[in-house]
Amino acid sequence: MSVSPQTIAATGPNAEQIDYWNGDAGDKWAQNRDRLDAMLQPFSEAVLRLASAKPGERVLDIGCGCGATTFELAAQAGSALGVDISAPMVARARERAAALKSPAEFALADAATHPFAPASFDILASRFGIMFFLEPVPAFAHLRQALAPGGRIAFVCWRPLKENAWVSVPLFAALPHLPAPEPATPGAPGPFAFDDPERFRRVLTEAGFGSIAIEPHDALLSMSGEGDPVETALRQTLEIGPLARLLKEQEEAPRRRAVDAVREALARHVKDGKVRLGGAVWLVTARA
Ligand SMILES: C[S@@+](CC[C@H](N)C(=O)[O-])C[C@H]1O[C@@H](n2cnc3c(N)ncnc32)[C@H](O)[C@@H]1O
Repeated sequence: MSVSPQTIAATGPNAEQIDYWNGDAGDKWAQNRDRLDAMLQPFSEAVLRLASAKPGERVLDIGCGCGATTFELAAQAGSALGVDISAPMVARARERAAALKSPAEFALADAATHPFAPASFDILASRFGIMFFLEPVPAFAHLRQALAPGGRIAFVCWRPLKENAWVSVPLFAALPHLPAPEPATPGAPGPFAFDDPERFRRVLTEAGFGSIAIEPHDALLSMSGEGDPVETALRQTLEIGPLARLLKEQEEAPRRRAVDAVREALARHVKDGKVRLGGAVWLVTARA
């Protein structure tokens, strides 16, 4: 593989996301990656199970972030390429690959436009890295060209926010203390872009995929790190995710009231020494 660049230009349809994931969000994900990987582990297992990579199969991990799923896919298949637009996250993935002596490789690139060789992969996999394309049909059509005929996809993406207690519990605790946020645009790039499975099915169909299956899957997520379970869960909630984004825009006083309410809400969900809240995803498979 040729050496990929250390920085990425914010151009093309995903320029806004490139800016976003190369700013504070990418730094926070890179700093918190161990805790996030522990929290999201049930969904890594789901991606691995869906992908069922055999030794020698060629795997592309889309929006691989700091590489947790890429390492596991590479362990299954013997190699895997992770691609991501976030320079801090790809840098972290490469450091981890060296430390783990993993055969996984990483490229800093927009998966929607990167010139992959045609038919160069057997599996496209992703844990939460495929919901950020501004133009999803051309993006998935582009990715399909990179799949060998009959190649398969194995994706995990979030179901609606209200089914995801790990987001809705802190968010709904904070909202009464904040000015009403702009209503979200359904299907806009972001964690819940494919919360409507029929929309995702249409996008994949228009992009040329067949044998599409979209199944619900639930897991209890541990939000706490080492130390006080509520305070560590609170810190993560304030740094990463939809509430973190919303709180960034607030004045100090309402922000403080919202944070107190979130702390109280999280404290009601401590089980076995950790804040545990439900996560709800779609398991998505299809064929090129
Ligand atoms: C929610 S994070 C998930 C990261 C990782 N898959 C994980 O589960 O830890 C979403 C990731 O998708 C990446 N991403 C967003 N749009 C992308 C694009 N067009 N091409 C490649 N990566 C993209 C972001 O930079 C980010 O790392």
